[in-house]
Amino acid sequence: MSIPVYQNNGPISIPASLRLERLSGKSVLVTGAASGLGKAYAQAFVKAGAYVTLVDFNEALGKEIASALGENAQFIKCDVTDWDQQVEAFEVAMKNSPQKSCDIVIANAGILGHDGVFTLQGNWRHGLDSHTSSLTDRGPDPAGPPEKPDLQTINTNLVGLLYTAKLAIHYFRRQPLDASRDRCLILKSSLAGYLDAPGWIQYNASKFGVRGVMRCLRRTSWQEGIRVNLVAPWYVRTPIVPEAAQEYLDQKGRALGVVPREYAHQGYLDLDLDDYKQGSLPLEWQKIVLQTASALAE
Ligand SMILES: NC(=O)c1ccc[n+]([C@@H]2O[C@H](COP(=O)([O-])OP(=O)(O)OC[C@H]3O[C@@H](n4cnc5c(N)ncnc54)[C@H](O)[C@@H]3O)[C@@H](O)[C@H]2O)c1
Repeated sequence: MSIPVYQNNGPISIPASLRLERLSGKSVLVTGAASGLGKAYAQAFVKAGAYVTLVDFNEALGKEIASALGENAQFIKCDVTDWDQQVEAFEVAMKNSPQKSCDIVIANAGILGHDGVFTLQGNWRHGLDSHTSSLTDRGPDPAGPPEKPDLQTINTNLVGLLYTAKLAIHYFRRQPLDASRDRCLILKSSLAGYLDAPGWIQYNASKFGVRGVMRCLRRTSWQEGIRVNLVAPWYVRTPIVPEAAQEYLDQKGRALGVVPREYAHQGYLDLDLDDYKQGSLPLEWQKIVLQTASALAE
């Protein structure tokens, strides 16, 4: 498949239809697939007819999910921070997939935990409602010896992702460049790759770093027919989301629909509002749903 040189052509046309049938027979590798978003990706790809290799270090959950997905899924236990384990995961993904291929790779594994890099700056307690922040913990005594920080978050979210990207490109290059196969790398960032996230220094840095990886690769990967994409979600209810954010979602969370800009200049609509104007897209959707529902009931 030939990919054009990267240039900014503005937002993708929203009404463009998804051609899920193109996923049938493709081989997909997803890291961090034993939970949350990775699990949802694995389920959706299998549903679309792809073969999925679920990669995670949580063996119990990963095995359970892969076996529920049936013969089009396999689980490989792998810590993404370990190069040799990732090489093994890609090898098994290729070997066991029906077409002996590796078409789509999603570098999704990530953690968000206690970040001790700048403990002397304390833990920021951020009031989501009042929009105030306060310094509550001054960290270890500055007169004592410095503590070596644990860099597990950077190692997982950025170093592990670089290993995944490197291996994806390596195995993509074995693929024939024809329409039957693909060379698609999807990198997982976050809105924390665009905004300030006080207290989450490694998470913030890693997710900005993932954007750097994408921006670098997009300039050259087209030469080898490789597509590079970035997904940057914000607060999807999964185990990674901190308790304070879960509570905020419970009280104030909104469901947003991505829509053509002719309907909303921001490109999305708040689906929790119930005072939709005449002629608005949600009212049109409502009519369609009601028609479909009554047709189903007949
Ligand atoms: N949920 C959100 O609101 C949100 C928002 C922005 C970005 N993200 C990103 O999406 C990705 C998936 O997060 P999620 O919400 O599904 O969280 P999750 O905790 O449900 O899933 C993360 C998965 O990664 C696995 N994992 C962690 N470290 C690993 C390692 N070293 N090796 C192998 N597997 C490892 C975990 O076992 C888990 O199955 C992460 O990169 C996260 O930063 C999530």
